[in-house]
Amino acid sequence: MTRILMVCLGNICRSPLAHGILQAQLPTDKFQVDSAGTAAYHIGNPPDRRSIEVARLNDIDISMQSARQFRVSDFDAFDVIYAMDNSNYTNIISLARNNSDIGKVKLFLEENPAISNKNVPDPYYGDMSDFEYVFEILNATSDIVAQKLLHSKP
Ligand code: 4NP
Repeated sequence: MTRILMVCLGNICRSPLAHGILQAQLPTDKFQVDSAGTAAYHIGNPPDRRSIEVARLNDIDISMQSARQFRVSDFDAFDVIYAMDNSNYTNIISLARNNSDIGKVKLFLEENPAISNKNVPDPYYGDMSDFEYVFEILNATSDIVAQKLLHSKP
């Protein structure tokens, strides 16, 4: 089992989308995908209705997800921890206990050479077009990550 965690700030806009998109591309018997936020603001809440909507328009259901906060034990529970932006990355790294923890944390968009800005923009204060753009870049990057993961499996 390969375990992948998507992390943003609130776990209601970006990481739930990244979680739902990548999960839909991988077989559940070999891959576990989850998401979390570095902040506690939205613990227990469903994703933002605009994230649910843009996912639904692309045939992905994320409505059952529930926001949770990133915790130190996630360094043990996951093999790869993908941060949505540099601020999330710094927040996660500040909780790392050792170099093994640090080595698990990557910026998600570093996996996509076609995107120069490595931060997934926070769409929370934006409109539906911002959520559509976030979906587009997460979907393109998930394609790359899923291919890599599937081909690295025995
Ligand atoms: P997310 O977006 O980190 O992509 O889930 C945000 C959601 C909520 C807030 C900030 C960003 N907030 O300040 O409540």
